[in-house]
Amino acid sequence: MAMPWLFLHSAREVAAGPGCASRATEHARKRACQRPAMVLDPWFADSDAAKAIAGELKEACGAPAMIAVPAGEPDLDAVESVRAALAKADPDLIVVVGGGSAMDTAKVARMLLSNPGPAEKISGPAGAPMVPHPSLFVAIPTTAGTGSEVSESAVVSVPGTNYKMIFRNQDMTPHVALLDPVLGVTAPAGVTAASGLDAVTHAVEAFWSKFANPVTDMLSREAMRLLASGLPRAYSQPDDLQAREDCLIGSMLAAMAFNSANLGLAHAISGALGALHHVPHGVANALALPHVSAFNETATDKAKEVGAMFGGGTASSAMFRLRAQLGFDRSLDEWVKPDALDAVAAGAMRSGQLRCNPRAVVVEDVRDMLERMRTPHG
Ligand SMILES: NC(=O)c1ccc[n+]([C@@H]2O[C@H](COP(=O)([O-])OP(=O)(O)OC[C@H]3O[C@@H](n4cnc5c(N)ncnc54)[C@H](O)[C@@H]3O)[C@@H](O)[C@H]2O)c1
Ligand SMILES: [Fe+2]
Repeated sequence: MAMPWLFLHSAREVAAGPGCASRATEHARKRACQRPAMVLDPWFADSDAAKAIAGELKEACGAPAMIAVPAGEPDLDAVESVRAALAKADPDLIVVVGGGSAMDTAKVARMLLSNPGPAEKISGPAGAPMVPHPSLFVAIPTTAGTGSEVSESAVVSVPGTNYKMIFRNQDMTPHVALLDPVLGVTAPAGVTAASGLDAVTHAVEAFWSKFANPVTDMLSREAMRLLASGLPRAYSQPDDLQAREDCLIGSMLAAMAFNSANLGLAHAISGALGALHHVPHGVANALALPHVSAFNETATDKAKEVGAMFGGGTASSAMFRLRAQLGFDRSLDEWVKPDALDAVAAGAMRSGQLRCNPRAVVVEDVRDMLERMRTPHG
């Protein structure tokens, strides 16, 4: 008998297309917002793009508080600085502009406004109870990406430890996601590649997850189709707006899929690499995905479809080929000394994502994959 399944809805409104970032102002007007705040990726803090959105908001509902997120992937100190600035502004509208780091920081900082106290109180991979915050929450992603603009989760590291806190709750999901490809054209090639390979990993892992269902399969397939065609074009032609939009829609659909289907072994490995050695999230997934694909190929028929979606051959050969097209030629040795690999393998084995992976894993399997990740071409 088939297992019962579950699909979680995400953002209430999604808009896509050049210039759609302006819709933030329409929402401000509709809701008669009076105290807007913008939370900004550090690269965008002083940008013309952010100033243009701020100018439109000012006309509609007053000058927004402008809050820059500290650089780097989020930690609790960054969250606290944004939370304190938001508390001062007491916003009824929060517009976040940035990559996954800015969006995750804004998500957790916003929830701490209505759940005062230590962040531990509202963290936990299975989702902890949270009091919703009344502000309208608009997310404008500048990478494609994490899909954080439509997911219910955020990941934040705890300074001075090797631990990353997971936050998960439907009340953290932004209400409105605005996928404006114009904002992506300034992304450096390495960011386009790494964030794009994170999105590919989301689509693939959600597709062959044990928790996949007919709705998530539909989303994953279209995500793979859009990313397979859009990502190499966005990488080689950074100002190709159609390619940027394809990647944004692909990364969003992949996140809508993993929001319910969860992920798998590649994210178990990238989680350990991020927590223990600060390997950027997209890079860590890019390192792991071809090897995880080779490992999973024997366990799921869906692997054949993944290979076909990305140009033919096995899933792992397709992932190696895609990485090469995106100029990705990195070795795990850049971040991790060989004598630290056992601890990474042990860390990956503690991940809850393993229960979603189509093939059962033991620590020796992970150790073997980490060894292979030391050679750029596998
Ligand atoms: N919540 C989720 O569902 C989810 C899913 C996957 C990953 N994540 C998290 O997202 C984070 C990674 O996010 P990311 O891959 O989007 O990278 P990022 O947000 O860390 O950005 C990477 C770099 O690119 C810069 N940048 C971003 N957009 C730019 C643009 N358009 N032009 C110029 N520079 C730009 C940023 O300033 C930063 O220096 C990690 O912390 C990861 O854990 C969250
Ligand atoms: Fe990811």
